[in-house]
Amino acid sequence: MAGERPKKKPQIKVVRKGPYVVNGLKHLKNWKGEDLPVQPVISLCRCGASKNKPYCDGSHVKIGFVGDKDPDRVPGEMHEYVGKGITIVDNTDVCCRDRSCVVNLPKVFENEDPDAASVEEVIATIKKCPSGALSYKLGGEHCQDYGRKPEITVSKNGPLKVVGSIELKDDYGTQPWCKEHYTLCRCGASKNKPFCDGSHLDIGFKDE
Ligand code: FES
Repeated sequence: MAGERPKKKPQIKVVRKGPYVVNGLKHLKNWKGEDLPVQPVISLCRCGASKNKPYCDGSHVKIGFVGDKDPDRVPGEMHEYVGKGITIVDNTDVCCRDRSCVVNLPKVFENEDPDAASVEEVIATIKKCPSGALSYKLGGEHCQDYGRKPEITVSKNGPLKVVGSIELKDDYGTQPWCKEHYTLCRCGASKNKPFCDGSHLDIGFKDE
């Protein structure tokens, strides 16, 4: 319509030594699927110390939060498991240890055997991988984009699950491996910041 302003796409800015500043987000949910309050600009904790999680309360300053990647981190690897109907792509570098793959379809993901279930079951399970570590190839085409609306879900005692191609910006030019969905650390312990690497499990991160 003439005169109508173009809608601003949401964006996440990773602040050095500080929170995630999120612009233009319409949908923030908790792990029960309930809506959480949003404003045009919100700050979400990434140091793990806020007493008002998932929002930032300035605690990053008190604890001297740095927020960079660990320079001693050993990067993960890329694997492809080629089956008759589908190829599973596994980028272990961004795995958040969600385990939805081995819990939902162990015969495929524990045994690294794409042919141990139907192509539809494999795809349905891959789509549950929040970090984007798992994706697939069908007929040579690499599929990572599921076309969802922009939304962030605060997982219980775990990362922020981002879906819907929300742009990520930081001072280092960091980009997610999978642009449509990725997981962001909010416990402060990941060696692969800003992405979750499952360290919340090692430190026993709790929302309370
Ligand atoms: S939330 Fe920090 S490593 Fe997963």
